[in-house]
Amino acid sequence: MTDPLFVWDDSLLIGIDELDFEHKVLIDDINRLHEALAQHKDRARVLGDIYARMQAHFALEEHVMREHKYELFDEHKVEHEALLDSYAEYMVQFLNDKDDSNSKPIEDVLERWVIGHIIGSDKKMSLMTKDS
Ligand SMILES: [Fe+2]
Ligand SMILES: [Fe+2]
Repeated sequence: MTDPLFVWDDSLLIGIDELDFEHKVLIDDINRLHEALAQHKDRARVLGDIYARMQAHFALEEHVMREHKYELFDEHKVEHEALLDSYAEYMVQFLNDKDDSNSKPIEDVLERWVIGHIIGSDKKMSLMTKDS
C-alpha cells in the first residue's frame, strides 16, 4: 500500500452536506489514483475516471449555485473550467509520455484543486445557504 496523497480532515468541510460528501469521495478517488500511478496499474482508466468524476462534481456544484442565485457563480465556474482543462492537459501529456515515471505534475494539479479550490472557493459557497 502506498501512503495516501491526501488525508481528509474536517478543515475541508464547507457546510453543505451533499458537496462535503462528494469531496470526501473525490479525495478517496485521488488516493486510489495515487496508488495506481505508483503501482503502474490501470493508470489510464483511473485518470479518466477522475476526470469524469470531477466533471460530474462541478456540474452538481454549479446546479446548487444556480439554485441559490449565487453571486460568485461566474468566477467559480471559470475556476472549474480551468481546473478541468489543466487536469486534461496533464493527463494527455502523462499518457503520451514514454517515460511516465514522473506522476508528480498531475498530482500537483489535483493538490491545487483539493487544497486551493475547496478551501479558497467552495468554502465561500456556504455563505449563500445562510441567507436563503
Ligand atoms: Fe467542490
Ligand atoms: Fe467548486
